[in-house]
Amino acid sequence: MIRISVAPMMDRTDRHFRFLIRTLSRRVRLYTEMITAPALLHGDARRLLRFHPLEHPIALQLGGSEPEDLARCAVMAREAGYDEINLNVGCPSERVQSGSFGVCLMGEPQRVAECMRAMADASGLPVSVKHRIGFDDHDSYDELARFVETIAQTGCRHFIVHARKAWLKGLSPKENREKPPLRYNVVARLKRDFPDLDIAVNGGIKTWEETENHLRTFDEVMIGRQAYDSPFLFADLDSRFFGDVDPVRTREEAALALIPYVKSELEQGERFSSIVRHFTGLYAGVRGAKAWRQTLCGDAARNCGADGGIKIFEKALSEVARETARTSNFSEQLT
Ligand SMILES: Cc1cc2nc3c(=O)[nH]c(=O)nc-3n(C[C@H](O)[C@H](O)[C@H](O)COP(=O)(O)O)c2cc1C
Repeated sequence: MIRISVAPMMDRTDRHFRFLIRTLSRRVRLYTEMITAPALLHGDARRLLRFHPLEHPIALQLGGSEPEDLARCAVMAREAGYDEINLNVGCPSERVQSGSFGVCLMGEPQRVAECMRAMADASGLPVSVKHRIGFDDHDSYDELARFVETIAQTGCRHFIVHARKAWLKGLSPKENREKPPLRYNVVARLKRDFPDLDIAVNGGIKTWEETENHLRTFDEVMIGRQAYDSPFLFADLDSRFFGDVDPVRTREEAALALIPYVKSELEQGERFSSIVRHFTGLYAGVRGAKAWRQTLCGDAARNCGADGGIKIFEKALSEVARETARTSNFSEQLT
């Protein structure tokens, strides 16, 4: 079964961005931003776990390294209605290192195995782990294979592999997503050595051609930054990969389909700018992109109350239409 997913991204894949993606594709699998176990156990769990029913299938990504805490979080995830729980063993940020979770856990496969078992046993939900191909000097294939084998012994079948290593010292999280080279061949070797596991490949994938190519080797392709920067990419996923009718055909249709959602969120007290800030990429790369972005992120959008939000959203759409008409009139005059 083909699987294509949008990667968990802090401060990006919140429920509003995920709703945009779901408006474009019914088939893509969604992941939340990482939520740490302490945040969930001691913070506003209802707010952190909230998602729209249309988001299914949706996985909650957790960060942590205490099996008991993660088990409690897994139960909360099941009660909230999530379809899968994913453990983050790929994040290299300093903050994460100090809490002893993220990619440094690749050096403690037994502990990760305990975490995976605890989450699966407590919740009964499918669990998956997102990791890298190594970190610092722990970057041999043997170590990677031992990590995967140890986790697989718990019954976990689903591994999402960011195809680069991480450097814990010296590189920022951003650099750790760019500088270490992508090594898809290492992930391919994992798939060859563990043919019964579901192996997803992640990192640097930008087009459907690349996706099709990877799906010849891997069970799943996970896309991060490109999904955020150019979400409209996903508008033909359902027809292209599943033979379904796509939910929307144009960016305008997508934007119009979002209006009831925006209205409903505003009625529930959400700030307009928090809802639409992740919609700004919808017109990326086409005429009207700037007008769309500027209207949705301008002062008026930031300061508007619930009543003004929809008017600004409609204004953004008419600015795009005007910009598109202006540019096409201009090119007609030139020909
Ligand atoms: C802004 C940002 C935030 C991220 N936050 C997370 C996160 O919370 N959990 C995680 O596992 N990976 C996180 N990542 C990494 C992505 O999930 C993904 O592995 C990485 O960006 C490589 O995929 P890409 O090249 O398709 O973007 C983040 C990436 C970005 C750009």
